[in-house]
Amino acid sequence: MTSTVPTQVAIVGAGPAGLVLSHLLAESGIDSIIIDQRSRDEIENTIRAGILEQGTVDLLARLPGSRAHTVGMRHDGIELRFDEAGHRIDFPGLTGRSVWLYPQHEALKDLIAARLEAGQDLRFGVTAMAVEDGGTTRPRVVAEHSGGTTLEIEADFVVGADGSHSVVRREISGSHDGLFREYPFAWFGILCEAAPSAPELIYSNSPHGFALISQRSPDVQRMYFQCDPETDPTAMTEDQIWDILQQRVPGVTLVEGPIFQRDVLRFRSFVARELRHGRLTIVGDAAHTVPPTGAKGMNLAVADVILLARALEALLTRSDSTLIDGWADAARDRIWKAQHFSWWMTSMLHTTPDASDFDRERQLGELRSVVESEAGRAYLAEGYTGWPLG
Ligand code: PHB
Repeated sequence: MTSTVPTQVAIVGAGPAGLVLSHLLAESGIDSIIIDQRSRDEIENTIRAGILEQGTVDLLARLPGSRAHTVGMRHDGIELRFDEAGHRIDFPGLTGRSVWLYPQHEALKDLIAARLEAGQDLRFGVTAMAVEDGGTTRPRVVAEHSGGTTLEIEADFVVGADGSHSVVRREISGSHDGLFREYPFAWFGILCEAAPSAPELIYSNSPHGFALISQRSPDVQRMYFQCDPETDPTAMTEDQIWDILQQRVPGVTLVEGPIFQRDVLRFRSFVARELRHGRLTIVGDAAHTVPPTGAKGMNLAVADVILLARALEALLTRSDSTLIDGWADAARDRIWKAQHFSWWMTSMLHTTPDASDFDRERQLGELRSVVESEAGRAYLAEGYTGWPLG
């Protein structure tokens, strides 16, 4: 059985990019349908990074039902640690902006609830199989319900916000056609029941490798340490994990507590070669991935769709294609700044397995030149808090 539904914009993927886009389109009176192969429960409970740039939080906060400013916590700085000393980067003092710690799955709960409350079409458990008629003015998404029935969405425009294994990317850029870089390390991440170990996030470069002391709430903390990508997250005892973390933040005493989740996050930098083909585009992780250092992933996804919402408003309500024709270049401008920033933070803070004494001393020289100069600190703070959205 096949059912066909018409809409203006078919959005594949109910992550931050897809959901924010649908809200922005609705503000301009444009209809959309979102499908996602996952269940609502899975989307709302998958733990991802939690740092929102000022521009991202300002946008989320003005959407209905957002708790970004009430449950989220403003962070006015981070600490960079190396050579057993901490150096604060003061964001408002350097840029006039801050960041907010608001876990992505909490933001997703707000966005999903607001969409459903407004009576908009959001379908879980529906898997996109293909996009057809991509080169025409009426492309179609062919999808399958978990029960096996087929759904066709006929739209004026199709947006792939369907993550790093994007089905829509296949139609635009080929599954693997992009510019990418792999890294010889990953992050071992934990969630634990404990009070924060420090008022702000700590990014630590130690002779034993990188560690990040992040937070989630007053009684749950998120911490990471650099590890081999092949590490088995179940193979270590809690004591071993705490020993590694403590060793990597010399001079700081971590508040320890029961570890209730652990995972290994692999690193990859990727940008698809093509972001748009006619009336198809890809956004967010479907278009690019960044290593997690600096927490740019969700922020970049939101920046993509802010630009796209403007372009679709012009195209679909005024038949003006100027912005959509320039959209990929405009998006790419920020994507490559964020790629550079994420790569730079990663390379400055992590140890590569084959690092020589020269490499180590050069890295410490780089860190000193960042923290000891106002220009260096401002450069980091600008990238971390996010470049203006224009
Ligand atoms: C996180 O809390 O998960 C987090 C924070 C900052 C990062 C990356 C991840 O740079």
